[in-house]
Amino acid sequence: MARMLAAKPYLQSACIRPDAQVDYDAYPYNIPAVKELGLLEFHADVTFLVGENGTGKSTLLEAIAVALDYSPQGGTRDFKVGGAESVSNLHENLRLARSFRKPRDGYFLRAESFFNVATFIDEIGDPTGYGATSLHGLSHGEVFMALLNNRFRGKGLYLLDEPEAALSPNRQLAALAAIHRLVEDKSQFIIATHSPILLSYPHAKIMLFDGTGLSEVAFEDTEHFAVTRDFLNHYPKRLEQLLTDAEND
Ligand SMILES: Nc1ncnc2c1ncn2[C@@H]1O[C@H](COP(=O)(O)OP(=O)(O)OP(=O)(O)O)[C@@H](O)[C@H]1O
Ligand SMILES: [Mg+2]
Repeated sequence: MARMLAAKPYLQSACIRPDAQVDYDAYPYNIPAVKELGLLEFHADVTFLVGENGTGKSTLLEAIAVALDYSPQGGTRDFKVGGAESVSNLHENLRLARSFRKPRDGYFLRAESFFNVATFIDEIGDPTGYGATSLHGLSHGEVFMALLNNRFRGKGLYLLDEPEAALSPNRQLAALAAIHRLVEDKSQFIIATHSPILLSYPHAKIMLFDGTGLSEVAFEDTEHFAVTRDFLNHYPKRLEQLLTDAEND
């Protein structure tokens, strides 16, 4: 029987163009995960980018977004906001492999500049389904949940940088359910996160960014899972150790 071509993942893989003239001693190519990117293959449903602060998750996600024609500040592809001065040129040297099927919807969310986008939407007005006439009447987390529940329409490719920044633990659980609903409706996500709650999503691939590059890791082998579980299970003892060590420093 002939194999059916799968529509997902819309974004199949990313690598540095083999003919790219880049300086591997300078930002962003000196970041181990960028230098050792190899062929990063995305999961059809969710790909998580995890790792310590400063390991290059946002740099890579932003480059993917810009290569896909999003504003580096985030938003939909129609929103062009200013302030792109700090964007690296990684997007120019990325080769992205895409499905024959284009996603029908998309969004690039970066928590750090989210309010720029919210302001922009407020200014131009958006009658088409954010679920609120003014996003500024809502809290950070409420705006994000409004996006997820009302604006993300499905059959989309969504790039999210630390979406949990806005969300209470309960809302992170609600976000997980919303992500699943969108995945079931033919959506693909690439999410940089530190949230052990989000990382537990089973239809996913977790890519760990560290000092040696990039590798795939299982949820229960992530530091996020191990450190959080250990701390919550033993927090009186762990706190005592931490605070005593701090006093002795
Ligand atoms: N414009 C820039 N010029 C030089 N170095 C930069 C620039 N932007 C970021 N960096 C450096 O690149 C590295 C990766 O940064 P990046 O923001 O991608 O990390 P991250 O993995 O997203 O971290 P976090 O978990 O804290 O969000 C950091 O060491 C950072 O200081
Ligand atoms: Mg980041």
